[in-house]
Amino acid sequence: MKNVTTRKLFTPVNIGPITLKHRVVMAPLTRSRSDEPGDIPGELMAEYYTQRASNGGLIISEGTNISITSRGWYGAPGIYTEQHVAGWKKITDAVHAKGGFMFSQLWHVGRSSNVVMTEGAMPVAPSVDPSYWLDSEPSVSTSGGWVKPSPHRALEIANIKSIVEDYRLAAVCAKSAGFDGVELHAANGYLPDEFLQDGSNKRTDEYGGSVQNRCRFLLEVVEAMASVWGGDRVAVRIGPSGSWNQMSDSNPAALFDYLAAQLNRFGLAYLHIVEPRVKGNVVIKEGQAPVAAQELRKIFKGKIIAAGGFETDTAEKIVDEGDADLVAFGRHFLSNPDLPMRIEKGLPLNDYDRSTFYTFAAKGYTDYPFYQEQHAS
Ligand SMILES: Cc1cc2nc3c(=O)[nH]c(=O)nc-3n(C[C@H](O)[C@H](O)[C@H](O)COP(=O)(O)O)c2cc1C
Repeated sequence: MKNVTTRKLFTPVNIGPITLKHRVVMAPLTRSRSDEPGDIPGELMAEYYTQRASNGGLIISEGTNISITSRGWYGAPGIYTEQHVAGWKKITDAVHAKGGFMFSQLWHVGRSSNVVMTEGAMPVAPSVDPSYWLDSEPSVSTSGGWVKPSPHRALEIANIKSIVEDYRLAAVCAKSAGFDGVELHAANGYLPDEFLQDGSNKRTDEYGGSVQNRCRFLLEVVEAMASVWGGDRVAVRIGPSGSWNQMSDSNPAALFDYLAAQLNRFGLAYLHIVEPRVKGNVVIKEGQAPVAAQELRKIFKGKIIAAGGFETDTAEKIVDEGDADLVAFGRHFLSNPDLPMRIEKGLPLNDYDRSTFYTFAAKGYTDYPFYQEQHAS
């Protein structure tokens, strides 16, 4: 490990108007612990995020539903009612009290849902692909367990506009809830990603076909979010190499190069890139060189967060080499509430327990030990 004083990972960095003291970010992590019914962020979630807040560090919230019909994961919180706002406000206050910052990740699952999650409404997508529901594993988490996605329908233009408005309203709620900014979840095969990639977008109108048209929905959503926050407190998360959720594109480089160039006009807080080595939340190839951030760095003018399979040494490397400005950790942050401190001091990490990723209680959520309590004599 390098001398602490020379480690760029622990030097300040600005994202928009915010100055962070270090570059170890908590990645968005769905944990299914909101209070049900109603998807309300409650005391348990507040304890979890408070544990993970650090002075000058950034937390990105778990994927957070923007409307009832955007839901596709039981226990995921919402950000579209007064109760959601009140619940989140307690969390952002606690994170701020520790000197931390927090962005809200806005989530619409698109076709990756089931009618039991949407109060009976058919899930929506850019276009209809029956193989998605026919061939899918049970991938939708519901109160009754994992089920297959329901048949979805293609969005009409008027529906698209109203979903853009849902994002705007959720961004308003996130502001009332005291977040420091908002991140659009446009990775992992959810609605914005479904529009981007031509494996799932077969439209022939202005939202499909050319790369320009497939980026239109995402850019309209970013515009709506920026109208509430200003561009410098808005961020976008993309997964250019992800095949999770049956995603595919005939030319991802052309698509994401164009998108990154278009995003320059907003002066975003950051672009968050899931690197190519994970499939959803499962490691598919260890040791694969991260290419996505490196490629998009040449095009995107703002700050870049890289995520996906990072360890201390690879995180240091990507930041030192300048391919990313910050690194988000998912699974390690889930099992190490004091992860930035552990990485800074080179302390051993707690292992994560996959069996409790999406269960509904404190076990495997708020009971991972801090280093100090673990080693108290
Ligand atoms: C339990 C779990 C939940 C996740 N939930 C989300 C989510 O809500 N939004 C998102 O963009 N990514 C989500 N991811 C992906 C992570 O943010 C991250 O990209 C992935 O875990 C790879 O990073 P890691 O190797 O550091 O864990 C999730 C991953 C895990 C393991």
